[in-house]
Amino acid sequence: MISSAAAERAAYLREKLEYHNHRYYVLDAPEITDAEYDELFRELAAIETAHPELDDPNSPTKRVGGKPAAGFTPYEHAVRMYSLDNGMDLEAWRGFAERVAKGVGTSDISYWTDPKMDGLAMEAIYENGRFVRAATRGDGMVGEDVTHNMRTVMNLPLTLHNANPPELLEVRGEVVISNKDFAALNARQAEAGEKVFANPRNAAAGSIRQLDPKVAASRPLRFMAYGIGRVEWDGDSSPWATQQSIVEGVQELGFAVAPEARLCASSREVADYFQQLMAERAGLPFEIDGVVAKVNDLEMQRALGFTSRAPRWALALKFPAHQTSTRLNNIRIQVGRTGVLTPVAELEPVELAGVVVSSATLHNKGYIGERDFRIGDTVLIQRAGDVIPQVLSVDLEKRPESAVSYPFPMQCPVCHSPAVEDGERVICTNPTCPAKTVQRIIHFVSKAGLDMEGVGKQWVRKLAEDGVLNSPADLFTLQKTALLKYGGMGDKSAENFIKAIHKARHDAPLWRLIAGLGIRHVGEQTARTLADNFEDLAAIGKVTREELQELEDVGPIVAESLYDYFHSPEADELFARFKEADFWPKGGVKAAEAASGLPLAGKVFLFTGTLPVKRDEAQAMVEALGGVAAKAISRKVDYLVAGEKAGSKVAKAEKLGVEIIDFEAFQALLQGMPKAKPKSLLDF
Ligand code: IVH
Repeated sequence: MISSAAAERAAYLREKLEYHNHRYYVLDAPEITDAEYDELFRELAAIETAHPELDDPNSPTKRVGGKPAAGFTPYEHAVRMYSLDNGMDLEAWRGFAERVAKGVGTSDISYWTDPKMDGLAMEAIYENGRFVRAATRGDGMVGEDVTHNMRTVMNLPLTLHNANPPELLEVRGEVVISNKDFAALNARQAEAGEKVFANPRNAAAGSIRQLDPKVAASRPLRFMAYGIGRVEWDGDSSPWATQQSIVEGVQELGFAVAPEARLCASSREVADYFQQLMAERAGLPFEIDGVVAKVNDLEMQRALGFTSRAPRWALALKFPAHQTSTRLNNIRIQVGRTGVLTPVAELEPVELAGVVVSSATLHNKGYIGERDFRIGDTVLIQRAGDVIPQVLSVDLEKRPESAVSYPFPMQCPVCHSPAVEDGERVICTNPTCPAKTVQRIIHFVSKAGLDMEGVGKQWVRKLAEDGVLNSPADLFTLQKTALLKYGGMGDKSAENFIKAIHKARHDAPLWRLIAGLGIRHVGEQTARTLADNFEDLAAIGKVTREELQELEDVGPIVAESLYDYFHSPEADELFARFKEADFWPKGGVKAAEAASGLPLAGKVFLFTGTLPVKRDEAQAMVEALGGVAAKAISRKVDYLVAGEKAGSKVAKAEKLGVEIIDFEAFQALLQGMPKAKPKSLLDF
């Protein structure tokens, strides 16, 4: 492709991708499938690789996170980021509203009220419609430059949605993680034996303070806008006259704003809104710790001004804390799908944010040991976002003499097989432990697996406990009559149950089956990669650990786990039964591409040394054209693309007789030039 055509296509694709990003992450209303999105993404990545001159830090391809930063640079905010004064109850609110009325000389005041998001304050700066910088609040005057991490936040627009954007715009808001995403993140961390976060705010703040943007990119961060710093639009520094028009204005430019925000016509309405939001709090997608009420009229705001730390025109009306103390009565153990023994605290029932809590997670053996929780202790518990409460700490002053340490069982409480320690976790060693079987079948039918809507978790548990379901394969031979034998299951429910199973049998994509198997370290992403690259389950079972590692996102640990699973007698038996039941989804889009005549079909490339473009971009380019990007040198590699300062791979490639080319030759190859220029002397 000649450069101008490539530039045009790249601009088109970037706009399209940003548009679909916004539909998906801001409006929650996608118009295209993930596969269609991926296709646009890959095409853009391919063009960018072939045309490094089109590099743009705000290309949607940059959201995956580039090179780690060396450190954080201080950034001085042009307009100070003030804090907020807090009010703890409606009494405080009335006092505030009276002061405001006095200050502006009328009690006819509207307030813009929005939820007080519990995350990390951030300023994102745009010049001529393009994202140029982001900085944390810091002490309000000077924050830290975290541009590299904010670029990975999927709902942050990298380009403003206006043909005539402001020359300058500083958007302020909060970086947050939704309750649902937080629960999934912590589950992932605990499962991997890594640190769990105390609450969504800590997880968000910790993710933003990473030097490596790939870590931030892997965390489900969102930016919710609530205000601005400076704005210059057509030479005008005050295009907006109210708080409402600011929020609606930035929303039109592509930012996500809290949907609960609204205008209250009086201080009375603010009080009602506060009560209403407090009642809805537990069901909101994000953790909020109160309501922020701001005088809507900016003229009035200016008249009221600031104290040394906070505006006189805004108040944060806080909700009561989401934490409380209660007695730890006992600890019981739950056995998960992978056999991990999870300790659960049995608590003296206590009300917490409108719900009675009687149990909470203690995460793993290490968590109990580190914090020294004992039966009989008074503990601090918290509902952090998710519905699952957690035990935070122990109140040592209240420890009774009778408090006893908990000896963590080194035996599975369900099947009584020995358990072993693995990092912070303890795992049941019995591969056929009934507790694992139940959880495995539940996982198999769940959203994370085959997504069999109509197949209820409670029913699966019952059927498994009664020995009707001993393996996921038993689902496919289940008869409606077997279900009807149970009291409580009506004809219609039984029919829906069976229908859902057979719908999955016909329609489920291979990735859902792989994800549903519940293989350790294999989540949706890896399952999708495998399904793209292999025709069916049998094909995955035929490759070596090394070949698995050549796939994107598959490192040695994942490869090992996959290899072990696919070579286990359990998998053999399960797969045979799936086949028998005529449940055998096919994948292999990439394998099919190889047969489809794409220019690099079936060709394997490996990159080494410093290239003029990022390595993952070069790899994306190869894949877009039907080729395979290898991770390690082997005879299977067709071309080693050697950049500057290429290391030992070159010698190895020479030994194996692999063709070595430079980046220029690689580009020529992509553009369909007749012959790649060999760099290796062995290759004349
Ligand atoms: S307005 C001068 N609105 O709360 C106005 N702040 O306690 C100051 N926060 O650092 C900010 N949700 O990060 C505002 N809807 C909201 C907010 C909000 C959360 C945070 C903000 C600030 C802190 C002050």
